[in-house]
Amino acid sequence: MASENMHESDLPFSPACERNKQPIGEVLQRLLADDSRVLEIGAGTGQHAVYFSSLLPGVEWLATDVAENLAGLKARFALESRGRLPEPLQLDVRDQRWPSGPFDVVYTANTLHIMPFELTPLLFQGAARVLVSNGLLLCYGPFMDQGVHTADSNRRFDVSLRQRDPEMGIRDTVEIFRMADAVGLQPTDDISMPANNRILVFRKKATPATGRQSG
Ligand SMILES: C[S@@+](CC[C@H](N)C(=O)[O-])C[C@H]1O[C@@H](n2cnc3c(N)ncnc32)[C@H](O)[C@@H]1O
Repeated sequence: MASENMHESDLPFSPACERNKQPIGEVLQRLLADDSRVLEIGAGTGQHAVYFSSLLPGVEWLATDVAENLAGLKARFALESRGRLPEPLQLDVRDQRWPSGPFDVVYTANTLHIMPFELTPLLFQGAARVLVSNGLLLCYGPFMDQGVHTADSNRRFDVSLRQRDPEMGIRDTVEIFRMADAVGLQPTDDISMPANNRILVFRKKATPATGRQSG
């Protein structure tokens, strides 16, 4: 459907986003500087981008997603963003070229259990490339620890994901932290969120200054 002909009721909609946007927003208010530049991966319906851009008006929020979600994102922004959001961009974590930024924050919600596990390192590599030194990667969603689910509802969700598509599934923080470490992203926080979700926070290690050697 052409985005200019879409109405609010036609927009892709996630009830979960409506429930989680406020608690996530409270965390973003704490973690982000007023003028942060944020790159969102897998923006989905765009509900987060619209809400956070209104909650954090000084923040520059660049939403991206794979090709199939772009029309819905554009349509939502045209109807709801009131000029606060730039055009969303097409980005698959497999792409060689990412928006160069640099960005202060890379934000992604509910993507790691959806994209095939083998693509997860690409998300971490891409984030590490486009973040400024000391920039943050924020990953919202359900995670397990050392093969153990943190709640029975997450275990059931994991089973249902894997039945839907064997490439989906709740990821283990052990593997996530290993991938992050491989690209210089240091875990700095693990924030409990409603409904047994978490926000994993990673900071890009500062690159040591390469001063001229004397003598
Ligand atoms: C469950 S939706 C989450 C959408 C939104 N972030 C939210 O919290 O509602 C999963 C998202 O991951 C995105 N995704 C899946 N594979 C991807 C990939 N290879 N690169 C970028 N995004 C991907 C999907 O397009 C989709 O928008």
